[in-house]
Amino acid sequence: MNLMVVALLGSLCLGQVSVVPRPSGIRLTEGRFVLGPDTQIVTDPQTDRLGQTLAAYLRPATGLALPVVKSSGGDHAIVLSLDASLVDLGPEGYRVSVDPNRVQIKALTQAGVFYGIQTLRQLLPPAIFSGKPVSGVEWVIPSVQIEDRPRFSWRGMHLDVARHFMPIEFIYKYIDLLAIHKMNRFHWHLTDDQGWRIEIKKYPRLTQVGAWRKETLIGRPSKQMQFDGRPHGGFYTQEQIRQVVRYAKERFVTVVPEIEMPGHCQAALAAYPELGVTGRQVEVMTYWGVSEDIMNPNEFTIRFMQDVLSEVMKLFDSPFIHIGGDEVPKAQWKASPEVQAMIKELGLQDEHELQSWFIRRMDSFLASYGRRLIGWDEILEGGLAPGATVMSWRGEAGGIAAAKADHDVVMAPNSHTYFDYYQADPNTEPLAIGGYLPLEKVYSYDPVPSSLTQDQARHILGVQGQVWTEYIPEPNKVEYMAFPRACALAEVAWTQRELKDIEDFKSRLRVHLQRLDAIGVNYRPIR
Ligand code: ACM
Repeated sequence: MNLMVVALLGSLCLGQVSVVPRPSGIRLTEGRFVLGPDTQIVTDPQTDRLGQTLAAYLRPATGLALPVVKSSGGDHAIVLSLDASLVDLGPEGYRVSVDPNRVQIKALTQAGVFYGIQTLRQLLPPAIFSGKPVSGVEWVIPSVQIEDRPRFSWRGMHLDVARHFMPIEFIYKYIDLLAIHKMNRFHWHLTDDQGWRIEIKKYPRLTQVGAWRKETLIGRPSKQMQFDGRPHGGFYTQEQIRQVVRYAKERFVTVVPEIEMPGHCQAALAAYPELGVTGRQVEVMTYWGVSEDIMNPNEFTIRFMQDVLSEVMKLFDSPFIHIGGDEVPKAQWKASPEVQAMIKELGLQDEHELQSWFIRRMDSFLASYGRRLIGWDEILEGGLAPGATVMSWRGEAGGIAAAKADHDVVMAPNSHTYFDYYQADPNTEPLAIGGYLPLEKVYSYDPVPSSLTQDQARHILGVQGQVWTEYIPEPNKVEYMAFPRACALAEVAWTQRELKDIEDFKSRLRVHLQRLDAIGVNYRPIR
């Protein structure tokens, strides 16, 4: 064979391997494994459930009901096993090796095997992701050796279901999409000025009243706002939430709930005006922006919100509980004699220190149950609570300050991770909140700021993409805004920095988008 032919074969082979996010190491070898009725899935007791998961992934498109067995009688098998010697791959790494008779997926943990399975799916033709039988496709896996592990432990996607309620079926689809991209945190933004979406048994009005607004602004806020005249709302029952958490856990996704306080809470105040500074009856907000109506940080409110968090902790097993803390206008605190007296009595400097004091009360409460508080970077103002982790959204400055002060950080800067921003020329795109964040810019992001020392950089847990839904009324548009930017973010979160390459990513993405087609994801086409 002359060199030209070898080179051509090489590129054709590489064309068959388009894994997103890009693995740490891939080596193609000779041959191929063809999935067929004789293929068995071989598991040990610790990988049995994962074997069932793999069989369920492969069945709809192929029509094959592959048996999941304890030991292989045949000579054509996919073998899933834990291997205690693979400590170097870390708690989420894996090894996949494919030769014509055998696929082996090995890892130190079940999470690792799960990620190996995700990679294996991507080694098959994209149609494997179809939920319906696909004919005329040969289910081929190229012979390959892959060793892989993630760069960051927090690989997150957020979804705001307060501005627009998203049906529960879509929450499941979103979690599936996270898992395909080896993302492992679903940040569920459950409460805000425009809606309260989580059932709380002790305070039923939170959803009876707070889950519904009488109408919604059309377009952007302005002096002459127009409304649609249609009630909007919905909430998730505690039973639905338990099921979502269980479903996510089976896909190695931790669901991080966010309950906003002491601002972004007008829906809660509509339900329980006594939580507010003024005590006045407000309605669930019907337009976009930040409400001036915030919580009174007194003992009544603290007890109330801790009751809410108690129910939240029963539903969610996430070590982290998100308490919001962003964008709290302080005018009502400034104007309130009661709040000013509190500031004096507590010996605090100002309203920022009061907010910090309030957040500290939540921090110690969560800590007493073995949980960790996480909040948006405003929780730095007035002093960071001792156990707090910071989600840095107004750029990286908050994250840098927190890491330098020995606190953990999740990078979520609006400059690179806000998927409610335009992804192309606004004149050619559906209405969005503003901003400009093309795919390439997401991809270029490095979550570790160069101003941190190595020790400080260890506090960067990872990175997260945000989907705020003021201008995203339904799942189809969530998909349009989130994909393919979330694919780029997945690679930011997973792939070692030195292996990132935008051109290589884009060529893999072309294949990857066929997978999203097979799933039925309304992503924005790349041009
Ligand atoms: C935020 O975007 N207000 C966290």
